[in-house]
Amino acid sequence: MGEMRSSERRDEMRRRADRHAGRALSPLMEFAYFAIMEQAQQRIIDYYNAFYDSDGFDYYPPEITREVLKALCRRAGVKPGARVLDVGCATGFYSAIFSELGYDVTGIDISETAIRRAREFYPGIRFEIQDATALPWAEDSFDFVFALGVSVANTRRMPALHDWLAHLRGVLATGGTLALLGGSDLSGEVAKRSDWFNHTWNEILEFTPPWAREAHGPWLTHFRLMQLLPPSLSMCDATTRLLRLLPARHVRNIILLLKNTP
Ligand SMILES: C[S@@+](CC[C@H](N)C(=O)[O-])C[C@H]1O[C@@H](n2cnc3c(N)ncnc32)[C@H](O)[C@@H]1O
Repeated sequence: MGEMRSSERRDEMRRRADRHAGRALSPLMEFAYFAIMEQAQQRIIDYYNAFYDSDGFDYYPPEITREVLKALCRRAGVKPGARVLDVGCATGFYSAIFSELGYDVTGIDISETAIRRAREFYPGIRFEIQDATALPWAEDSFDFVFALGVSVANTRRMPALHDWLAHLRGVLATGGTLALLGGSDLSGEVAKRSDWFNHTWNEILEFTPPWAREAHGPWLTHFRLMQLLPPSLSMCDATTRLLRLLPARHVRNIILLLKNTP
């Protein structure tokens, strides 16, 4: 991981391990913890390196995505020119649209291949190889943190998810917004093709961490709806209630907006 110092990753992992254990771990436990964490993370990196070398995601056309991101930024109160962090940016599709919309965007991903390709596709945009669980920035570095479908959220362990959201909050300006987005068919099962965990509605309700005093959502919506309807209709509780009635095979987009209030 060229741009991230492994000592920094190790320090962050140590802090997290200590927090989970409620006390400092013995050297042996620490070693086991690092080994397991690093192996799991390396599997993700290898998977996505191979994926972006051969393929990439199918996205909605940029004109649809532009409307979606505009609606999302309006709903989150993101001001023109704001500093946006695109977490798990893949090959830069969303970063490019944020940039087109006039935001000052930084895209990060743990996959070297993703970042190499993102830089080839969009040479004018800042992309960095970074681990989203050990970000190097200080607080007040970004006004909007956008995390769509990042593997770190692919867990049923709410304390781990809350820990990660707190880490992302750590780079936000006061008053800034953290947007957590993902997909789920609400079945509570792992998707066969992608091994993405489909959180149930009750699990989604638990996404909001205790520190988020002023949160919006979670809502269920869909990019098509977001393109067609005003944000007040596409991102609202009534739409969420309707979309919950769909059968399990339909994937909905989950949106949670967390305000970093003092
Ligand atoms: C399902 S893809 C989503 C990509 C993109 N956000 C999108 O919606 O098209 C998950 C991405 O998260 C990245 N990722 C996984 N773990 C990460 C981590 N710890 N830090 C940064 N990126 C990570 C992967 O490399 C991959 O590009």
